Amino acid sequence: MPVEFTPNTVIAHRGASAYYPENTLLAFEKAIAFGVSWVEFDVMLTQDGHCVVHHDFALGRTAKGDSLIHELTLAECQMLDVGSWFDRQYRDCRIPSLAEVLKLFVNTPVNLNLELKAKNDDDFELLVNETIHQVRQHWLDKRGWPLLSCFKEEVVSLLRATDETIPRGQLFEDYNASLVETLTDAPPFAVGMHHTCVTHEIITHVKQVLDCYCLAFTVNDRQRANKLFACGVDAIFSDRPDLMVNHE
Ligand code: G3P
Ligand code: MG
Repeated sequence: MPVEFTPNTVIAHRGASAYYPENTLLAFEKAIAFGVSWVEFDVMLTQDGHCVVHHDFALGRTAKGDSLIHELTLAECQMLDVGSWFDRQYRDCRIPSLAEVLKLFVNTPVNLNLELKAKNDDDFELLVNETIHQVRQHWLDKRGWPLLSCFKEEVVSLLRATDETIPRGQLFEDYNASLVETLTDAPPFAVGMHHTCVTHEIITHVKQVLDCYCLAFTVNDRQRANKLFACGVDAIFSDRPDLMVNHE
C-alpha cells in the first residue's frame, strides 16, 4: 500500500524523543505505544558499510567520545551507550542497526520516514544502496516503499534513478524557491522545511508547482503546530508524539 499523510499528521521525530533517548529501539517502541501513524529516524553508514540509526555524525552529544560514526564499525557502534546522556536509567540503550529498526516496525501500522544522512559526497551511493538493500530485505514485500528523504539533492536524485517508485522527500535547510522549480520534472512525494521558513505563500507555491505533501520540522509547541496546519502544512515532525492529543 503506498504511503500517505492524512491531514494534520504528527511524525514522531527520532521516535518519542522528548521522553526517551532519540533514535533508539526504546524511543521507537514508545512511539508505537503512543499510537503514532508515522515515525522519522536518521540513517548513516558505519566504517564497515552498515546502516545504523543515529542523528549526529560525531559522538559527543549522545555518546561518550569524539569519533565519527563513519570511523567506527557496526560492532563498535553497538557497544556505545546512547541513553545515559538523556537519563542514567537508559544506560542500556544502544545504537540500532537499520535492520533492527525495520524489523521492529514491520508488523505495526506505523509508516516510516528514513532520513539519509550522507557525510561525504563520495559515500552517498553506498548509503543509498545499503539503505535500499535493507528495505528490500526487511520491509518492501510486506509494506511497500517507506518515505526516503535527504537534504542533499543528489541523494534524492539517486533514489529516483535507482527506483522511480520510491516516495522521495526533499528537505530544505532554508526554503529554496529555485530548487522547487527544478524539481518539477519529477516532483518528490514530499518536501520538508524548517518550520520557521513556512508561510502560507510558500506552501501554496510548493503545492502549485509540485503538488506534493509539505512537511515542517521540528515542532514541539501545539499553537505553532496549529498555525502550520492552517498554512497548509500536511505533517509536522515532533519530538512529542502526543503533541496534538493530551491537553496541557
Ligand atoms: O527529517 C526531518 C528532520 O529530521 C530534519 O532534521 O536534523 O532533525 O534530522 P534533523
Ligand atoms: Mg532527521
